[in-house]
Amino acid sequence: WGVTGHRVVGEIAEKYLDRKASKAISVLLDGHSLAFVGPFGDDIKSNREFDSFKPWHYVNFPFGERYETYPKSEEGDIINGIYACITILKDEKSSKDEKAFYLKLLVHFIGDLHQPLHIGKLDDKGGNDFQVRWFGNGTNLHKVWDSEMLDSYKMSYTEVARNADVLSKKEVEAIKSGTVLDWMYESRALCEDIYDNSEVGEKLGYNYMYKYMDTVRFQLQKGGIRLASLLNDIFG
Ligand code: ADE
Ligand code: ZN
Ligand code: ZN
Repeated sequence: WGVTGHRVVGEIAEKYLDRKASKAISVLLDGHSLAFVGPFGDDIKSNREFDSFKPWHYVNFPFGERYETYPKSEEGDIINGIYACITILKDEKSSKDEKAFYLKLLVHFIGDLHQPLHIGKLDDKGGNDFQVRWFGNGTNLHKVWDSEMLDSYKMSYTEVARNADVLSKKEVEAIKSGTVLDWMYESRALCEDIYDNSEVGEKLGYNYMYKYMDTVRFQLQKGGIRLASLLNDIFG
């Protein structure tokens, strides 16, 4: 996601944190919110010192393959990245600075895990090489999903978060259930659907927005709920 998407995930997660996690996070982030730190994972990309984290934003493998049996990227991927963040946050030997750094990355990567094209195909780099037009302007399918749809929606992250679907307790429990891998396969299924419904060079605009905006909003909402669930467990 772009800045808005990552902030929405953080903002929604805040509402599902229990008191203990909320307090621990506030201390680690010096009072900043999860929405504030959501985009951090992208901000550090401009610093070569952090190049090793770049493959942690996504995973690519062919449609129809299983992640578990497909050869893993040596540089790591979003799944290993998320596990690494959780391990460091749970380790009492980690320093406050270390925990703060990996907490900010975890917020970011749980967000990206819910962007369907971050569970993508290697041949077009998760849609980055899949050129399309967005309201007449040249862009690519990855960007349409990261940010073009949300930006065209012209709503602040707080407004998007405030207008998330109203869910019953049972629905929230169902969303929280499962593992990081289950959530990844959910995104993968959406990714396959997106490819079934897109053509290179296609002119996308309002029709596409109306078709997929609810999917975008629900992915962000699930990302927020699941992020909070992981954090409640880590800091519980
Ligand atoms: N770079 C290469 N593959 C990518 C993907 N699936 N998502 C984001 N960036 C990528
Ligand atoms: Zn992206
Ligand atoms: Zn990212």
